Amino acid sequence: MTSRRSWPYAEAMKRAMSRTAPVLRGWRDRRIASLVLVWCLAWGAAWSSAADPAAAARTIREQLDQSAKLLDAGRNDDAVAAFTQALQGLGEMAALPRRPAAYKPLADKAAGVRRRFEKAGVELAALAVPGRPQPPTTAGARQPQIGGGAAVSFSRQVAPILCKSCGGCHVTGKKGGFQMVSYQGLMQSGMVQRGAGQASRLVDVILTGDMPRGGGKVSAADVDTLVRWIDSGAAYDAADPSVGLDVLVRGGAAAPPPSRPAAAAVNAVSLKPGEVSFAIDVAPVLATHCLKCHGGDETENGLSMANLEALLRGGREGVAVVPGKGATSLLVRKIKGADIEGQRMPLNAPPLSDAAIATIEKWIDEGARLDMLTAKAPLDNLVAAGRMRSLSEADLGKVRVTAAEKLWRRAIPDEEPVIERRQGVVVVGNLPPQRLAEVADVAEKAVAAACRELPVAGPLLKGSVVLYVVGKSYDFSTLWQSMVGDERPRGVSSHFGVAGEVAYGAILVPSGGTSDDLEPLVAESAVAAAFAGRAVPAWFARGAGRAVAMRLAPESSVAREWKVASAAAASVVPPADLLGGHVADPLAAAAAAGGLVGSIGTGARLGQMLERIDGGMTFEDAFAKTFSATPAQACAAWTAKAAKRR
Ligand code: HEC
Ligand code: HEC
Repeated sequence: MTSRRSWPYAEAMKRAMSRTAPVLRGWRDRRIASLVLVWCLAWGAAWSSAADPAAAARTIREQLDQSAKLLDAGRNDDAVAAFTQALQGLGEMAALPRRPAAYKPLADKAAGVRRRFEKAGVELAALAVPGRPQPPTTAGARQPQIGGGAAVSFSRQVAPILCKSCGGCHVTGKKGGFQMVSYQGLMQSGMVQRGAGQASRLVDVILTGDMPRGGGKVSAADVDTLVRWIDSGAAYDAADPSVGLDVLVRGGAAAPPPSRPAAAAVNAVSLKPGEVSFAIDVAPVLATHCLKCHGGDETENGLSMANLEALLRGGREGVAVVPGKGATSLLVRKIKGADIEGQRMPLNAPPLSDAAIATIEKWIDEGARLDMLTAKAPLDNLVAAGRMRSLSEADLGKVRVTAAEKLWRRAIPDEEPVIERRQGVVVVGNLPPQRLAEVADVAEKAVAAACRELPVAGPLLKGSVVLYVVGKSYDFSTLWQSMVGDERPRGVSSHFGVAGEVAYGAILVPSGGTSDDLEPLVAESAVAAAFAGRAVPAWFARGAGRAVAMRLAPESSVAREWKVASAAAASVVPPADLLGGHVADPLAAAAAAGGLVGSIGTGARLGQMLERIDGGMTFEDAFAKTFSATPAQACAAWTAKAAKRR
């Protein structure tokens, strides 16, 4: 015992030197290494002779302060040297049979300094704060287990440790930008280096005592498990690597309960008149005044407002928005500049108006809810969606035409578009002007017929739908590429979607052919665009477009083909894929969606859907109210009916 006590530094030094070696490169580093060596010997001797924990603690504290100061002064090498010394001292303390009371606060301080090094971009990976959760001591335990020895199971051993020790902050949360929702997410984060447990950041942050934050501990046995799992290749041993870790741990149970009350707001809800709309009233303020410092790239104090989900997650100080508690929420205190640490927000800019502050506070008081799109939708999209709801028909029409023209120029810059504005539809394309005018006539008629079929009193979509029409396959592919960002799938000649302010359909106008064929194609695209413009799921928009078009021109050859295709699709397209948007073949997806929506939605019901969504209901609420079923139930009923018919 005595000998251990008087010579701990020799062991500790050897250990530290071997760990330090990889980061000490070049002559300057060697110089530091020798400095460290000399210092270690001197200090180790002093320690064993003086054996005065209080004096040792003082020395370590001074070294830590010194290293931070040197770092601030940009003297990185000297800072590393001082820090290394401090760690040696800590190593000595940690090795004592009974750790002095001063140890823990010093180790915390060291972990803090270590973070400052990381922030400054100074590589320290191999310098661990000693004596915190100890790495496994025998090298043998860390060897890959080949044959015989029990392999570490990710799903049964590793995932439970990660959920238990890191869960709220990194599995359901994304503190410091690091999230391990699933095995896949963990591996993509770069925090795990297969085969190198000790060197992996995931383990390193635990060994240094930096993680877990909030006073939790990871036992030495658990650390050992993590290290062995990574050392032996970090394999996955369950079926689906994208399954949530928490789900995995609970044996694949249904969706996890949100870990924070704030997460309850993740689904959009329908508002009552007079309630504050996040999309219309709050998001524009945040986008204008906060996003540049709390956006995607720049997230001051860890607080991101890139979307509502991120905002609700909060920043360094924790949750900034506590639903139901506007006045005490950090975000409101920060914009009022009252009762806060740090600065009033927006930083270095005039305060928000009293009205804007009151609106934000009321929004939080009312539960900090989302009323459009999803909590993952970028704030900008939400602002655009809110604008569509709040602008007048005429103003929105102008906004849409301008945006539609801009989109065209982005896709096909060398060709002036011909633009025809008609009732309820704007046609944009590069057909010969006379042909384009004919197509516009057909489109106007088709849109009017769709309005009667649904029936909707106003326009099919506020501010008009946009219809892009081209005659050359080449141009259609170019358009597709620009809008979708992907190769056009073979055999597909129509498309719809939303791009910023524009809800559009796009068709490759068949050369020759009669307007009998053109009309259902145009109606399909226009109606799908009108639904897509209300942010319903793609399968519903696509299906509604086709269902309405089939009803308008049941005898057209196009409609007859669709009918055959949708009957076939019922048996081959899995309902979950259809509703989840995972059908690989776009033609099959369209056929299935058309069949499904056609089976549930007579014109009147689809019209009710539009009215309800325009009235502020979410898609889910409107669907339930209109069809007395969930989409999944409706889909199951449709496939069952189709199976019976065969
Ligand atoms: C109470 C919340 C909390 C817990 C629990 C927690 N962390 Fe963290 N973690 C954070 C915060 C906050 C940051 C951002 C740190 C910073 O910027 O200083 C972070 C950052 C990280 C990072 C990125 C740091 C980097 O510099 O690369 C990793 C890796 C990490 N944590 C791993 C873990 C692991 C592993 C666990 C579980 C053993 C864990 N954390 C538990 C709050 C937590
Ligand atoms: C010019 C950059 C800048 C702008 C613009 C800005 N912030 Fe900040 N924000 C910061 C910085 C820097 C901090 C950290 C320092 C502090 O808290 O004083 C911060 C911190 C915060 C925090 C505390 C987060 C935490 O967990 O510590 C909140 C909340 C916040 N800002 C809200 C807002 C809101 C709301 C707006 C818009 C009205 C806004 N900020 C605009 C730079 C900015």
